[in-house]
Amino acid sequence: MNARRRTVLTAGAAALAAGCGSSGDGGGDSDGSTAPATAAETPGTSAAELTRTSDVPVGGGTVLKDRKVVVTQPEAGDFKAFSAVCTHAGCLVSSVGDGTINCACHGSRFGITDAAVEAGPASRPLPVERITVEGDSIRLG
Ligand code: FES
Repeated sequence: MNARRRTVLTAGAAALAAGCGSSGDGGGDSDGSTAPATAAETPGTSAAELTRTSDVPVGGGTVLKDRKVVVTQPEAGDFKAFSAVCTHAGCLVSSVGDGTINCACHGSRFGITDAAVEAGPASRPLPVERITVEGDSIRLG
């Protein structure tokens, strides 16, 4: 029973993939809405690119652990980036949620707009990282 179900699911996924890749719409990617959800690990992402705008939720953010950067989008179209290294004891922050950047090591929380400390034990904000937003691409610098 399980094997049969698995076959059906696999076939369904293949059909979806085929349908997606063969629609012949000219590959229009002007709105970027079809970008993969895991841009940080997508082989096509260049070394300079941190992430894509569509991967940063409005009112939240994304922790890019391999780059040690957290990118937030406090309001639509307004992107910020900060060091993901917690100013308390150097852990990488673990998540963005409920309007704050959160460090799981000891519970510090930083605002997504300016990385100001909203809850200790950290006493200093996360350092700002410079970014450039070009189209749907977010780069350091
Ligand atoms: Fe982040 Fe301690 S290292 S709260």
